[in-house]
Amino acid sequence: MNAPASPALDAFWMPYTNNRAFKSRADVPARLITRAEGMYYTTASGAKVMDAMATLWCVNAGHCRPRIVGAIRDQAGELDFASNFSLGHPLAFAAAQKIAGLAPTGLGHVFFTNSGSEAVDTALKIALAYHRLKGDAGRTRLIGREKGYHGVNLGGLAVGGVPANRKAYGNLIAVDHLHHTQNLQLNRHAKGEPELGGAAMADELERIVALHDASNIAAVIVEPVAGAGGVLVPPKGYLQRLRELCTKHGILLIFDEVITGFGRLGAPFASQFFDVTPDLITFAKGVTSATVPMGGVLVADHIYQDFINGSGAAIEIFHGYTYSGHPLASAAAIATLETYAEEKLFENAHGLAGEFERGIHGLESLPNVIDTRNLGLIGAVELAPREGAPGARALEVHNRCWDAGIYVRAIGDSVAVCPPLIVSGGQLREVFGALGEAIRATA
Ligand SMILES: Cc1ncc(COP(=O)(O)O)c(C=O)c1O
Repeated sequence: MNAPASPALDAFWMPYTNNRAFKSRADVPARLITRAEGMYYTTASGAKVMDAMATLWCVNAGHCRPRIVGAIRDQAGELDFASNFSLGHPLAFAAAQKIAGLAPTGLGHVFFTNSGSEAVDTALKIALAYHRLKGDAGRTRLIGREKGYHGVNLGGLAVGGVPANRKAYGNLIAVDHLHHTQNLQLNRHAKGEPELGGAAMADELERIVALHDASNIAAVIVEPVAGAGGVLVPPKGYLQRLRELCTKHGILLIFDEVITGFGRLGAPFASQFFDVTPDLITFAKGVTSATVPMGGVLVADHIYQDFINGSGAAIEIFHGYTYSGHPLASAAAIATLETYAEEKLFENAHGLAGEFERGIHGLESLPNVIDTRNLGLIGAVELAPREGAPGARALEVHNRCWDAGIYVRAIGDSVAVCPPLIVSGGQLREVFGALGEAIRATA
């Protein structure tokens, strides 16, 4: 569709944006993306920018990939929409089968949503309903983690741990939070999984269980690698210990793999990378490489079977979205997963993890850098906050990188890198070269 290069800006209330600042910029066209292909955007002012963030950790197959574009186009003309509420269409079943085929053994069932936020709230509701089904209706408390990001719906907000996201909305749901896993005294500049403190950090769950009693706790939800909270890789043994403690106390463990799913760490899911199997996995983003909104929850077989066998003649779960398993999203998911397989993109991520690690740790000794961290094709460099202006340095680095034709993301005082899985070693070197230049130029 031909979009105007200089649209009127007022009507669109932009999400997660300082609208006043954005709309009053002199150079708005330089920030409007009008085309994208592979690793690159083209802006309304004609600049080419490399997308080193898979945009919002989601364009894992790269932009406008022909197979995916073709599948969406064809599907729009074949079957635009059909409900999955007591009807169905074959593609949703086929997409679920394909996703389940990539999942860890034992998580063979998919509940579709349209976003990561909906996937998280769906997983939390499944956990609550599951305990009730099992006669454990007192298990209603949900445990998240500081610096966790689980989307913006009420459940995800409550278990999330990014203060700015929470403070305007109060706290409507019974939750508690584990501490985050960042410890610069123990694990500064860790390459890959930090070595120290993992099991002890997870043992904090025992304190929370002692406080609330296990009989009141439904689920623990964590991102295997925290993304939007600043790319925090858990120390060795952390996730294993969480799994043990959840099992011990009858608490469901949910991995929010909205970012880590679909190859980010070189395995289909982080669960396989860490060899820790949760009870529920949320996914979104990479499932369609962001081409059509889709999310979902992978559900453990025994949980699914308990619902199917335990609900009498009624609908098993009174939950679903009009667009759960939408035909366009299903077609996009199938074509995306085929692209990942055909082009061996998870293998590419695995193969380039060392190059990524060398690139990001090559920035360790630059001015103001206080931490560098990485796993697979995700990482961050953290800068010392500028006196009285937290976040300002990272934002300046982000802006300098953009002007140099590289898109990275500022998160507080960290700058994140998370490229599409089609990235090459040369492009990674370009990204870290530009990032280094930008850090050097930022006082
Ligand atoms: C781990 C995690 N969970 C949930 C979400 C929310 O996904 P969405 O923005 O699609 O609702 C995100 C988004 O970044 C995420 O990173």
